[in-house]
Order: sequence, then C-alpha cells, then structure tokens
Amino acid sequence: MARILKASGADSPVLREAAAILSSGGLVAFPTETVYGLGADGLNAEAVAKIYAAKGRPATNPVILHVEGIASAKVLVSQWPEAAQRLAERFWPGPLTLVLPASGLVPAIVRAQGPNVALRCPSHRLALALIRAVGRPLAAPSANRSQHLSPTRPEHVASSLGEAVDLILDGGPTEAGLESTILDLCGERPRVLRPGPVAPADIEAVIGSIDIWEGAVKMGDMQSAPGMAERHYAPRARLELVEPGRGCVSSGSRLAYVAFGALPALPEGVRGISLPLDAEAVGARLYALLHDLDDAGFERILVERPPDGETWMAVRDRLRRASAKESA
Ligand code: TXA
Ligand code: MG
Repeated sequence: MARILKASGADSPVLREAAAILSSGGLVAFPTETVYGLGADGLNAEAVAKIYAAKGRPATNPVILHVEGIASAKVLVSQWPEAAQRLAERFWPGPLTLVLPASGLVPAIVRAQGPNVALRCPSHRLALALIRAVGRPLAAPSANRSQHLSPTRPEHVASSLGEAVDLILDGGPTEAGLESTILDLCGERPRVLRPGPVAPADIEAVIGSIDIWEGAVKMGDMQSAPGMAERHYAPRARLELVEPGRGCVSSGSRLAYVAFGALPALPEGVRGISLPLDAEAVGARLYALLHDLDDAGFERILVERPPDGETWMAVRDRLRRASAKESA
C-alpha cells in the first residue's frame, strides 16, 4: 500500500517530501476541495505518462493542469479572453476548470494531442501549497483507476491505485465531493462540458448566457468532448436509477435503496438510505456513500432519480454515468 501522510502546513517535512517527489518526476495524490487528484509535474511529459499508466487511462482523455493563480495560468494559454479573466477573478481559487487554447509550454500528452488545455486553481490549502512548493503546474486527474469512482478520502486513493502512487497526502474528506465544473471557452459561445459545484447560473451572472453541452445533461452523443465516456464515476456494484417513491420488489441482503428525502416502504433485508433534499450536501456525500456500499459488499444499488432543477445537475450527471452500461 502507498504511504498516507498528513501534512500540517506549507513548510512541513511531508509537504517538502511530496514536492521533491513531484519535482523528480514521481506521482503524489493530494486533496483538493472537490476530490483527490493524482498529481505529476504538468510540464514533464514522462511524469504525466505515469499518470496514464497508473490510472489505466486512455491516451485520448486529456488532463487538467492545476495552477496557483491567474498569472501562472496565462503562460499556459495562447489566448486569455476577457471571460477567462472575469471568471478566474470570481471563482478562483475554486472548483471551476477553464478550457482554453494551449500555449507551446503545454506538453502534447496533457492535451491528449489536441489544441486546448484545461486549467484550474484549486482552493484546498494543501493543493495550493504543493503547487507553490513545486513551482510548476500540476497535472492531476481524479486519483482513481479509469472509469471508477473518484476518491473523496485518502483510503479511497490507496485502495484504487495501490503501489502506483508514491505518496498520498492526507487532507481528510474532501469538501465538495464532486469534480469541478468544466467550462469550454474555445468555441463561439462558452459551454459547460461537465456540470459541477459551480452552477451555470453563477457563471452566467459573470459572463452572460452560456451553453450546456447536451451530453452533460442527457443521454446521447458522448463523443463531442474528449474523455467524456458515458460510463464513468461508477461503483463496482450495479447502480440503477429508479422512479422516486415506488420502492422495490426484489429483496436480499446485498441490495441497497437510496432515496432523496423520505424512504418508501422496503422489503425486509434491503438497506434503505435517505439522503437530504439538498444538492450540495448530497454532492459532498455521494461518492463516499458508494465507496462504503462497495466495501460492504453490496451488489446492487437502486437510486431514486434525483430532483429536477439546475442545482441538482451535477448529481444527476454523475448518477446517470454511474448507471450507464459498460461500453463494448
Ligand atoms: O475537480 C476536478 O476537476 C478533479 C480535481 C482533482 O481537480 N479533477 C478531475 O480530473 O476530475 P479528471 O481527469 O478525472 O476529469 C477531468 C475531465 C476529463 O473528463 C477530461 O476529458 C476533461 O476534464 N478535460 C481535460 N482536459 C481537457 C481539454 N483540453 N478539453 C476538454 N476537456 C478536457
Ligand atoms: Mg476522473
């Protein structure tokens, strides 16, 4: 198992060791405010290649570069539009990722050979301290095997990636619990590629009307953004979305039923779980709950269709992907 170490602050020996590992081309998992990331020096193509190997990630899926602020983002892009400036001023550090045309500094492997790069400035103090200590942008996808659930606790990273990671920085459970909102600023109109903690309405309040990529809200064409494979964020157990309030007829000790709000009557033996009618609170708990059900050996998880409305968009997106069939 990889070492899991707590870092007390920016000048702690553990943080210095983590920075040294990254500077010499190794992998360190670290907490962000969304999920744990699997970090490598984002300007070192060989180090980034280790991320792909550790995750079993297809080379067609690009990775996000994590920066300490606007100045370090600007050198990684060939254009920094007014919208990027305004959004970064408003939401960084925080869970908003911006896709922009890449500068010559960004290795091709980071971009999956495409012309654009995804950038975000995380707000977690350990993530920021680590980026500063390394003095370079950190490439970091979620610290899990490809297509599996993202980690919200250090133990999740250890059980998913094992020896493939040199060190796991322990920052406790993550706060938001769902991955960042991704906004593509390369097209004619800004477009959400992945819904997340920053809601479309919050973005529109800063830059005016935006589009939401179809694939992000309903089934359909999943190929228009790199790496947006339909099945994703999935537990080992089979997850099925069901109509709210109907309950279930099957029973068995390896069956869990998740409701938003009150639980319907359930057959004996079915584990019922009631989540609050609060999208943010559900986002914070969702992955940890699915990890726990996996660890407890549940084979099927029935989840009621989450409520409508924009605040629930990220939760709906992740549950829909978690319930998608394995692609051939
Ligand atoms: O909250 C987060 O964003 C977390 C933490 C660790 O920062 N990271 C994360 O990374 O979720 P990952 O790799 O698991 O998901 C990033 C998504 C991928 O689906 C990828 O396709 C998309 O971002 N992406 C990365 N670079 C892109 C690019 N140049 N153009 C379009 N999409 C991109
Ligand atoms: Mg991921």
